[in-house]
Amino acid sequence: MKKILVTGGTGYIGSHTVVKLLEANYEVVILDNLSNSSMEVNERINFLANKRFDFIKGDIRDKKILESIFKKYQIGVVIHFAGSKSATESDINPLEYYENNVIGSLNLFKEMLKADVKKIVFSSSATVYGEPKEKKCKENFPLLPTSVYGKTKLIIENILTDIQKANHKWKIINLRYFNPIGAHPSGILGEDPKNIPNNLLPFLTQVAVGKREKLLVFGNTYNTFDGTGKRDFIHVEDLASGHIAALKYLEKVDEINMSFNLGTGKSYSVLEIINAFEKCSGMNIPYEIVDKRLGDISELYADTSLAKKILGWQAKFNISQMCEDAWRWQKMNPEGYSTASS
Ligand code: UD1
Repeated sequence: MKKILVTGGTGYIGSHTVVKLLEANYEVVILDNLSNSSMEVNERINFLANKRFDFIKGDIRDKKILESIFKKYQIGVVIHFAGSKSATESDINPLEYYENNVIGSLNLFKEMLKADVKKIVFSSSATVYGEPKEKKCKENFPLLPTSVYGKTKLIIENILTDIQKANHKWKIINLRYFNPIGAHPSGILGEDPKNIPNNLLPFLTQVAVGKREKLLVFGNTYNTFDGTGKRDFIHVEDLASGHIAALKYLEKVDEINMSFNLGTGKSYSVLEIINAFEKCSGMNIPYEIVDKRLGDISELYADTSLAKKILGWQAKFNISQMCEDAWRWQKMNPEGYSTASS
């Protein structure tokens, strides 16, 4: 059986996906430089799935490592998560983002070509749409990312499109994630930002566990019912299932180059999320309304009909399950993955 190479497989979405892959009896090789994760994640994947997989510590910018992986293993498909993911940081360090995300991906695609591996599921983002005119976002909307991070995702999608144009045998699926939150229902895997969290849920759970004093709500004058920003939050377990659905679809078709929104199709405001979290955790979340964050948009949610129609996939978890799982993870791992060793 050919193996699946998962770049960035110890990251937040990567690790949840690897567990599902192993549970579905796929053979997995992870390549990860551990820049935003840790070896502990491997232990936990192993514990949850109870199956063997190979882990290689390395960087997609390192051509030698990539070459050796494609030589050593019979790879059938690549699921490509590896990359830097903070929009804010990307605008401060654009070169680092272009190098890590774009050059790294180019290296990967070149080695795939050399090894005759032509199937890839790429981890893209709803951020490629920028701020569309309509809030309910379809895959064929204009692609106008504003952050460098979003631009790197779009560049990679475009590179893949050109590769497929040159050789129709390539099979490509881009998955455009909306706002991933939640954690593995066991509380054993979750999101573990290394620095101060940029995103809403990790910040909120750190307030709940007492690591931070209060949540800052970025603006309450958006054109939404309560003035706070609205997003399509999706459980990371649903995203992981989306990758399995994409993989199955790749195996079924002769050629494909498509992008799919992975969201729930519903949006919740920041205040609604605080409320949902307070209900499921029984905690009171102190918060303060502050200025809008530069680059934020008022509202975005996915039109999910394409993924449903083509991949037969749709999100299953609701907002309280997402909050419950995020809270269980944070409670069980107040220091994230270093909790085990501390
Ligand atoms: C962010 C990234 C986006 C990335 C996505 C998923 C930015 C500008 N965009 O999107 O590129 O794909 O994460 O990882 O960083 N909020 C607060 N207080 C906080 C944090 C967030 O009020 O401490 C609000 C935001 O203003 C927003 C909502 O919560 O309205 C969601 O924010 P966040 O979780 O950062 O996601 P996005 O901004 O949608």
